[in-house]
Amino acid sequence: MSFDVAALRAQFPALEQRVNGRPLVYLDSAATALKPRRVIEAVESVYAADCANIHRAVHALSQRATARYEGARDVAVRFLNAKSRAEVVYTRGTTEGINLVAQTWGLEHLREGDEILLTELEHHSNIVPWQLVAARTGAKIVVVPITDVGEVSLEDVEARLSSRTKIVSVAHASNALGTVLPVKEIAERAHAVGAIVVVDGAQGAPHLPVDVQALGCDFYAFSGHKIYGPSGIGILWGKEALLDAMPPYQGGGDMIDHVSFSGSTWNELPYKFEAGTPPIASAIGLGEALQFFMELDHEALFAHEQDVLAYAMERLASIPGVTLVGTAKQKVAVQSFLVEGAHPSDVGTILDGFGVAVRTGHHCAQPVMERFCIPATARASFGLYNTREDVDALIEGLEQVQRLFGNA
Ligand code: ALA
Repeated sequence: MSFDVAALRAQFPALEQRVNGRPLVYLDSAATALKPRRVIEAVESVYAADCANIHRAVHALSQRATARYEGARDVAVRFLNAKSRAEVVYTRGTTEGINLVAQTWGLEHLREGDEILLTELEHHSNIVPWQLVAARTGAKIVVVPITDVGEVSLEDVEARLSSRTKIVSVAHASNALGTVLPVKEIAERAHAVGAIVVVDGAQGAPHLPVDVQALGCDFYAFSGHKIYGPSGIGILWGKEALLDAMPPYQGGGDMIDHVSFSGSTWNELPYKFEAGTPPIASAIGLGEALQFFMELDHEALFAHEQDVLAYAMERLASIPGVTLVGTAKQKVAVQSFLVEGAHPSDVGTILDGFGVAVRTGHHCAQPVMERFCIPATARASFGLYNTREDVDALIEGLEQVQRLFGNA
């Protein structure tokens, strides 16, 4: 199977539009990826034909909706190489997945003086949930620093692990810098001191092989919308024994076995963690997105993304006054950069005039900005549909930035 980017691009209706008179060049997939037509159609068909609540009725529409919702979970089981359906919990996204672990396993197990190990490159969604649980339990957050190129060294991780470490929570890949973390090696070292390992897979799932058994982590959270699926839906994978021993996260319908005023009991996994009517159509859309993604030739896809990234890094670095932020050896296709004398939001606005969509700001990773003593960056992030021509359009827009800011 080869990687036919033109054929793939034709499956993404959003790419057919012009923005400010130019063909759209979408370089913001780390914020959210565009959706292929089959995902859009899957979601539409739920509302058009199978519009019913799940797990609750014997009528045909409910039976069909339930079968599709649970079928999507089966797809996620295969995507993750999970051991069973019990391990795969629908969430609103990565953020909710991490909060779920923090508020259940964390609240139950953390004590004063325990430590939660994070790295300096984490997204706010892998920092703040731990701060909240630390404030309630007296646990302490310990931070592994990053190097000047944005890497996390195993020696720095090891130096901060001890018998006090109860949780190690790390990104699979950084959203601001692109750095890929050595999750498997970190997990081995964390387990050696008895800690559990949580992985923020928001940027990993769309760009790296995800095999939770091979990674050796205890929890892996990712979002549907970054892997070509709908927003408002994600997955938390967890080891069954851990999920089974955890208290529920939220109470409501569907997560119970029996309810009475003298006390209630909980449904089996994974339903114990799925209170209330879930985003049914979005879950079905996620199943379609994961199916679409799994049908791709991954070796060719990852090679293609790496080629576009390498080309972008080379071309950006060749522009005088442009500095790359995040140049780790192992990266997903994300590149932050600065243009001398121009604020990133001005860079983003000028690029938008060329139809080029990049994200600007702190990328919900303010500690990364602090580390590099900068307020913000512009960031180009690539998906399976991007090409070297997209990078050329970015560079053309940046040449205009340079002219306007008197750098050229
Ligand atoms: N976390 C997303 C990003 O990096 C929103 O843009």
